[in-house]
Amino acid sequence: MQHVLKKQLVRLASQPFKSIGLIDYCWARGKLGGDPIFAALLNQSVFPSNARVIDLGCGRGLLAASFLAAEKMLVDGQWPANAPPPPTGLHFRGLELMGREPEMGNRVLQPLYPERVQLAQGDMRQADFSNIDVVAILDALHYIDYPEQDRLLDQIRAALGPGGLFLTRIGNTEGGLRFRISQLVDRFITTVQGHRLPRMWCRPLAQWVHILEARGFDVQTKPMNGANPFANVMLVARVRA
Ligand SMILES: C[S@@+](CC[C@H](N)C(=O)[O-])C[C@H]1O[C@@H](n2cnc3c(N)ncnc32)[C@H](O)[C@@H]1O
Repeated sequence: MQHVLKKQLVRLASQPFKSIGLIDYCWARGKLGGDPIFAALLNQSVFPSNARVIDLGCGRGLLAASFLAAEKMLVDGQWPANAPPPPTGLHFRGLELMGREPEMGNRVLQPLYPERVQLAQGDMRQADFSNIDVVAILDALHYIDYPEQDRLLDQIRAALGPGGLFLTRIGNTEGGLRFRISQLVDRFITTVQGHRLPRMWCRPLAQWVHILEARGFDVQTKPMNGANPFANVMLVARVRA
C-alpha cells in the first residue's frame, strides 16, 4: 500500500478512538500503523464485499475499524484509482473475552458505522457461527488448547459454505529465536491486559496448514511481522470448491 494512503487510512481508522482517551487512542494508532496485516488484507483483496465477518478474540475491533475506514475513504472519493479498491458492505460481529475491549469498540465504531459492528464479551469456544461468510482469529487461537482448537476449526469449517474464508495469524513454533521473542512479548501484553499468565498452545506452521487442508481448506501462507522480530504467519484458508 502506498505510504500516503496508508497514513491517511491509519489516521481515519484510529482518530475516533480519541473519544475514549489518549492511551486507548495511542494503542489503536500504534497497532493500526505498525501491524502490517491491515494493509496486507486490503492489498491482497482478501475479504469479498458484503461479507458477514465474525472476528474471534476481536479486542476493540481494530479489524473492523480498518476495513470500515477504508470503505469510507472509497465512498468519499479519497481512495486512489491505482490501489485495489477496499471491500464494501462488510458487517462485523466480534467476540472477546475481556469485556472492556468490545465495550470500547462499540462505543467508538457503532455511531460511525450504524448496523455494521456488533462486538460482545464472550468466549470464542461458545461462538454463534450462524449467518457468516468470513471467520477471523488474529493472534488468539493459541490461547485455547489443542482439542479445543480442533473442535473450533471443525465448527468453522461446518459453518462456511463453498468459497467461505477463514483468516488467521499464528506464531510458527519452528521460527527459532523469532518465535521465542514473540512469545515473550505476547506473555507480557496478555499479563498487562489482566489475563493470568497463560499457557499457549502453539504449533509449527506445517501442522496448521495440514489440519486446515484436512478439513477441506485451500491454504495460502504469508509471513506477517512488519518490523517486529516475530515468527508470525497469516493463513488465508478458503473452503475448497
Ligand atoms: C493478541 S490479542 C489480538 C486482538 C485482536 N485480534 C487484534 O488483532 O487486535 C488476543 C485477544 O484474544 C482474546 N482472547 C483470548 N482468549 C479468548 C477466548 N477464549 N475467547 C475470546 N477472546 C479471547 C484476548 O483477550 C485478546 O484480546
